[in-house]
Formats: sequence, C-alpha cells, structure tokens
Amino acid sequence: MSESKVWDDVDEYFISHLAPDDDALQAALRDSAAAELPQVNVTAAQGKFLQLLAQVQGARTILEIGTLAGYSTIWMARALPSDGRLISLEYDPRHAEVAVRNIARAGLDRVVEVRVGAALDTLPQLADDNPPPFDLVFIDADKANNPHYLEWALRLTSTGSLIVVDNVVRGGRVADAGSTADDIRGTRAAIEMIGSHPRLSGTAIQTVGSKGYDGFALARVLA
Ligand code: SAH
Ligand code: DHB
Ligand code: MG
Repeated sequence: MSESKVWDDVDEYFISHLAPDDDALQAALRDSAAAELPQVNVTAAQGKFLQLLAQVQGARTILEIGTLAGYSTIWMARALPSDGRLISLEYDPRHAEVAVRNIARAGLDRVVEVRVGAALDTLPQLADDNPPPFDLVFIDADKANNPHYLEWALRLTSTGSLIVVDNVVRGGRVADAGSTADDIRGTRAAIEMIGSHPRLSGTAIQTVGSKGYDGFALARVLA
C-alpha cells in the first residue's frame, strides 16, 4: 500500500493483466514476510519490467547487487536461457537463506548463485573469477554505495550491457542537492556519474505505484 489509493488501484489492475504472480513468486513473498524480512522488493510490474529488459538485452548473464528474498532475482532469472547465469550478492545471511529457498522452489537453482557478504568485499572475488561480461546489472542494495557499485558494474560489463539502478527518486529526495543523507548522496553521485561518464549513456524515469513515488536509472555501456 502506498500513500495514494489510485496508485495502488492502477498497479493492481496492471499487475492482474500483465504481471500476474504465480505460485513460486507468491510463496517467495509469503516466506519473506514470515521471516520478517523488509518488504522492499520490487513490485510484480517492476519485476516484469526487469524481465523484459533482460529479454530485450538477450541476456545470458545477469549480476544483481541486493538479493533480499530473491523476488527480483526470480523475475530476471526467468529471462535467461537454461545455460544462463545470474549471480546475486547479498550482505545479510538471513536474507540469503530465504532467497536460496525461494529460488530453488522456483526451479532456478541451477541458474542462480547467491553470494553472501558485503558486495564491496565479494565483488573483487567475483572479478578475480574472470566471469564473462554481464549483459545486465541490477543495482539494488545499500544506496550509499551506488557510485562504487556503478564502478564495479563498468568493470564487469562490456559494450551493449545495461545497468539498472533502483530507487533513485526516493519520494523526490534525490533533487535535494544539500541532502546529507548517505542514500541520497550516493544516488546523486551515481546519477551524475552516468551523466558524465564517457562509457555510459543513461536516463532516469520517475515511477509511482504500490511502492509509492520512486524511480529507476538506466545506463547503457557504450564501449
Ligand atoms: N532486489 C530485491 C530487493 C533488495 S533490498 C528485490 O527487489 O526483490 C536491498 C538488499 O540489499 C537487502 O537484502 C540488504 O540486506 C542488501 N544489502 C545491504 N547492504 C548490502 C551490501 N553492502 N552488500 C550486499 N547487499 C547489501
Ligand atoms: C529500500 C530498499 C529498496 O531496494 C527499495 O526498493 C525500497 C526501499 C530501503 O532500504 O528503504
Ligand atoms: Mg529496490
């Protein structure tokens, strides 16, 4: 439920026709709530949007930073071919445990790997593994580190890859240049980096819906 009934009603209408939950997605949210994880997963409409982006990309490899209960993970991993790979990084072992169960129930455990630890600790290890470039990166963890995650995303992608950053509007707080809040400073730094980086072309889109007023940034890796 958001602050606006009409935003909730419209999301419910769109989701019922365009992004209906199935058993695995419903069970993922149920178990996430039962384990008292924060209920800040993407909506079904947003999950379907991520899935469509992965399909448009023809993604074979996806990196997610911030797994939570694996809800966005399941939406995106369903876009992958059976020999595709999604690596998701999660700091909290309790979240990762719920996510691993949810992902297995969705039949995606052969495609998805959850790596536990602070992403800035596990990303160097991931780079050392020399993975093929990721076709899609979804950044959705601690917002203060968004510019660092964007730097890592640039290292781990190649020409044509797409980077998506969640929660870049935060009820409009992103427009506050004087904000001292870590999340806003981190998100502003990421937006400004997308705007000025020679290897990135991007934009950001404001959204409303059952999660309130927020938005995504999208950036294509140029070279
Ligand atoms: N992508 C999920 C929501 C992620 S919520 C979905 O839409 O379904 C943000 C997650 O990032 C939380 O689970 C939180 O524990 C995790 N997180 C916070 N700090 C982190 C860090 N330093 N490294 C990795 N994950 C982190
Ligand atoms: C928060 C995190 C998210 O990933 C999100 O989509 C919404 C809120 C949060 O930590 O407040
Ligand atoms: Mg988010």
